[in-house]
Amino acid sequence: MSAHGIRPVVRVIASAAPPVLHIQTLLDQVQAAGWSPHLIATPTAATWLHADGGPVVSWVSRMPMPGEDLVLSDPALVVAAPATFNTINRWAAGVNDTLALGLLNEALGARLPIVAAPHVNSALAGHPAYQRNLALLRQAGVRIAGDGTPCPGGCHGAAHWTDVIACLPEPGGR
Ligand SMILES: Cc1cc2nc3c(=O)[nH]c(=O)nc-3n(C[C@H](O)[C@H](O)[C@H](O)COP(=O)(O)O)c2cc1C
Repeated sequence: MSAHGIRPVVRVIASAAPPVLHIQTLLDQVQAAGWSPHLIATPTAATWLHADGGPVVSWVSRMPMPGEDLVLSDPALVVAAPATFNTINRWAAGVNDTLALGLLNEALGARLPIVAAPHVNSALAGHPAYQRNLALLRQAGVRIAGDGTPCPGGCHGAAHWTDVIACLPEPGGR
């Protein structure tokens, strides 16, 4: 928290892997760590959350129309969690066709601090493009939560979020 009591914003960009159904736990933990979390979902993740009755994300899940005023607070930190195989690969390639990817791409280009928590099974994690793209993101300064290896049996909810929280810098510090 700043000297004025204003919490720095963490932009949490969630993609469509099962831990997204527990995203509220991550948001609560990020808040408890002194940050103000703002959730953005990929279109697929937004659909899952909507079906599950999860946090309301529809207002930020799509690209704005030209002239539509999309008011987003500037983040001090961006957290991509959970990050799918699809999102990691498209982000590393600079694909920019959703709001979530656009914000990830801008964060990378602006060299904002970024933490990413991939949630990818072992078969997909063995894909050579994925390994190359993870290395590319790391080289560009993205901190990969956990060790970036696949989650045995799927790591859902709090266990996965513990790795993310462990990567957060001190709010107000860099
Ligand atoms: C039940 C279910 C579970 C899935 N689990 C994962 C997962 O853990 N990791 C992953 O990378 N993709 C997973 N997928 C596939 C992604 O949801 C899919 O690739 C989707 O297009 C990702 O879109 P997004 O990255 O834009 O959110 C799963 C799909 C389904 C239906």
